[in-house]
Parts: sequence; structure tokens; C-alpha cells
Amino acid sequence: MSKTISGFSKLSKNKKIDWIVSTYFPDSNEAKNIIKQYWSSDEKLQKLHDEFIENTITNYYLPFGVAPNFLINGHPYTIPMAIEESSVVAAASKAAKFWLERGGFKAEVISTKKIGQVHIIYRGSSEALFSFFEELKPKILDETKPLTKNMEKRGGGILSVKLIDKTSELENYYQIHAEFDTRDAMGANFINSCLESFANTLRREAKTFKQFEDETIYPKVVMSILSNYVPECLVRAEVSCNIDLLQEGDISGQEFCERFVQAIKIAEVEPYRAVTHNKGIMNGIDAVVLATGNDFRAIEAGVHAYASKSGQYRSLTHAIVDNNIFKFWIEVPLALGTIGGLTSLHPLVKLSLEMLHRPNAEELMEIVAVAGLAQNFAAIKSLVTTGIQKGHMKMHLMNILNQFGANEEEKSILIPKFQDIHVSHSAVSEALNKMRE
Ligand code: MEV
Repeated sequence: MSKTISGFSKLSKNKKIDWIVSTYFPDSNEAKNIIKQYWSSDEKLQKLHDEFIENTITNYYLPFGVAPNFLINGHPYTIPMAIEESSVVAAASKAAKFWLERGGFKAEVISTKKIGQVHIIYRGSSEALFSFFEELKPKILDETKPLTKNMEKRGGGILSVKLIDKTSELENYYQIHAEFDTRDAMGANFINSCLESFANTLRREAKTFKQFEDETIYPKVVMSILSNYVPECLVRAEVSCNIDLLQEGDISGQEFCERFVQAIKIAEVEPYRAVTHNKGIMNGIDAVVLATGNDFRAIEAGVHAYASKSGQYRSLTHAIVDNNIFKFWIEVPLALGTIGGLTSLHPLVKLSLEMLHRPNAEELMEIVAVAGLAQNFAAIKSLVTTGIQKGHMKMHLMNILNQFGANEEEKSILIPKFQDIHVSHSAVSEALNKMRE
């Protein structure tokens, strides 16, 4: 049977499933049920999901959890998180409670600029192109007025537009580089629409600019698109306390801080460690970004580029001890929105934003940065004391029990049993087999 098809998107949802099942699972009685068991019984909700993307055949669920007890700039928050990794929400909650008792998190937005570019190839004299741009600039700003009017009312809009000569990096390459403030919107559509309007004005005006003698040297627009690199859409979150408040069992506060700061310094200089270190931060960041209906791919791309801004990939968090005060902070670029996109469409996203007291974009940046910092604190605290596996495998125990088909009675006996012993696949399997004998 052919594994390709034309006109697939035009089929009904049931017909699409029939094709998938007959093509890829011809011998399975299960495939169709697996796909359909995730459909919502609420037809309106299902239709909403069906229409988010093309060719929806079912829903892909992620657990939606909450981490309570976050104190951020003096305000309490319960943070919604959508994530499948067993230990992430538990770690966030633990870190939140830990810092609740030590003054909480402080966060501040440093800047909110976003960037978009029109990429141009031009083979004529550079002076002519710059003179053209001087004439063009008021026109492109004027012609985007219908697009920028509402954004300007909200205090945002186009902040600057300039032409940049990039020919030393790539032959004949120039760009219109524009800065935007998109207020509470993530702003991708706004920025891309403005850029496409710039490009259209440029194409039209090039035809009548005297110094471009003929068509062969008209500047050619290659593409117009926002950048997900947003080093000037930056937020900082921090915790601090006296080192004595960081005693961990028989590890003194001072010893704990030394180990902690050392671990951070390693992630600042060693890329192999930095990537894992930052991955742990993204466990917290992505989970909140997803729960609040933001674009986690954009956030990931921008954050990792920022982590490499010195030319080497480094830790996003930093720590020092100064005068017996432990200080731990993150600086991270986060282009987030609390209006537009999924924010008024997806019922769980709306619920998440309401749980967070309907934050504006800057407040959401602060909350998300705090989630990343908390996650990193929990990970480093475990790594430099008990090791990560103890807590991680405890949380993973339920997954292992489910994998071995443990029933409720077996779980109720084995979960307490594994509180004090090392959790591993083989140990759980052995204990289950013993019980079943
Ligand atoms: C696991 O998802 C994340 C950690 O590896 C992060 C870290 O090593 O810092 C625990």
C-alpha cells in the first residue's frame, strides 16, 4: 500500500484516521482506539483543538500541574506548569517553599525591545542605497501607520528603523534592522506584518529612485521576519539570604554555599555542563511558557543564543557569596505575551493566566524567570548534596510501577517500601515479582 497521499488535508477527521490506521497499523485493533481515546467528550472543546492546526487527529496530553508558595516581589503565586518530567513540579514547589521562608524571589524586567529584519541583496553602490533609505524611511513609517495605530495606543510600536551594511560578512548583503515594543503581545504577527509592509514600500519606491539606473540594481528583498534572538527583552530574577540560613543537614551553610557557587562557576566555564545546567532551567521555563500558551520554541531558541553571546555557551545563572550573603540570580531573554495568540482561546491557558492574577507581559517575564531560577536552585542543591537520582527516581517510581502494570494494592505496599531504599527498574521489578509469587 502506498504510504503517500494527495489531498489528505481535505479528508474528514475520521477518514484521515482510517488512512493512518490502514497504512501504518493494518494488523492492529488498537491503533484507532488509542487515537480516539484522547478525544474530548466536549465537542466544542474538541473542535477548538481540531482547528488549532491542520490535520488534527487527536490531542496529545501533557500533565498540567501547579507549584504553590512562590513569593515574587512580595506577592504570592501558584505557578501552573505543563510538563511530563516526573520531578520538575515537585522540585519547583520545594524551591518555592524553601525561599518563601527566606524572603522570596525578587524579579525585574530590564528591557522589552524586540527585533525584526528585512534582509536585502543589493549590487549597486552603497552610497546610493543609503541615500535611497533616507528617502524611504519616512515612507515606510507612514505606510505602517494602520498597523501600528493600536499598538501605539497601548504604548508600543516601532522604536527605530535603520539600514545596516553587512557586506563584510556576506557579499551584497544589507538589512533593514527595526526595533519594536509590542507591550503585552508576544508580537510576532505585528512585527512580521510591519516588516512585510516595509518590504512592499521598498520594492515600489526602488522603481522610481533616480540613482538605481535600471532593474538590475534594484535592491532585492530576500525575506522579512522577526528575530527570536531578543537579548534586549531581558528579565532578571534573584534570591539572597545569609549563608547560615542554608545549612543542609550536617552540611553547614558556608560549606553548602561553597559547593553551590562552585557548581555554578563550572557551568559558567564548561559548555558540556552548561548545556545540562541550562536544560534544568528550561524545565521550569518551558513548563510555564507552555501552560500560559506561549511559544516555547521561540523561547528556547532565544535563550540558548543568549547563553552563547560571549562566543561560548555558558550558564544562565550566577551565584556569589559576599559578606556572608549568598546571592543567586538569572538573567534571561523572554519574549512573552499575555494577550493575543492562544491566550484568549485555550481554556487552560486562560485559567493559568487567571491563576497568575492576569499578569501583563512584564509580570509574566518575571514569573517565568523565577520558575527557571527555582528549578535550577533545586537541581544544584540536590546535585551538590544528595545527588540528583534520589529525588528523581522517587518521583519516577510511579512511572516504573505503571510500566510493570502494578495494581493499586501493589502500589500502596511498594511506594512506602521504596521511601528508604534506592529506586531502580530492576529493584522495582524484583520487589513486584516477589509480591506476585
Ligand atoms: C534534568 O531534567 C535536569 C538536570 O540534569 C539539571 C542539572 O543537571 O542541573 C537535573
